[in-house]
Amino acid sequence: MKKRIGFVAAMAVVGLAFLSIRYYEVDLPIWHLLGGGKGLDPATLHLRGEFVESNLGAAEGPAGSVTVRMIAQQFVFVPQCIVVPADVAVTFRVTSADAVHMLSFLGTNYGLRAVPGEVNQATFTFTKPGEFKVPCHEFCGAGHYAMRGQLHVVPRDQFASLLPGERRTCEPR
Ligand code: CUA
Repeated sequence: MKKRIGFVAAMAVVGLAFLSIRYYEVDLPIWHLLGGGKGLDPATLHLRGEFVESNLGAAEGPAGSVTVRMIAQQFVFVPQCIVVPADVAVTFRVTSADAVHMLSFLGTNYGLRAVPGEVNQATFTFTKPGEFKVPCHEFCGAGHYAMRGQLHVVPRDQFASLLPGERRTCEPR
């Protein structure tokens, strides 16, 4: 009997150790690097990592490359409106905080699925300035039909003159 209790206790210790190692690992940055987008926690997107609020919207990278980061959640896109330059390859990186959503850029063939726990990426070039509606094209719940964002494509020089905060809103300056 004593032996058996000892065995159960030992298994519990091993189990707890295993669990704590797993949870510890999940939070190491290297884990995120090795796992790509996997391991992204939809519940803490806004708290740490690539999709914190200050990192959302369009950002200029090296050599004039442009990357847009967005979160889809029931029933909005964050940011709700983004500004990108015309005639530049724009890489979109999107994830979801809850259900599967689908960004679709009305008037183009472009679309991109937003999946919780993953980062989906695609590169699109919008050749002319203009305004695009970005409705959700994947049924995601009661508010699905009202879920729509906006994309403003502006001339390159106008985009270059915008401050980072102005690239994730369509409010006039
Ligand atoms: Cu989001 Cu439909």
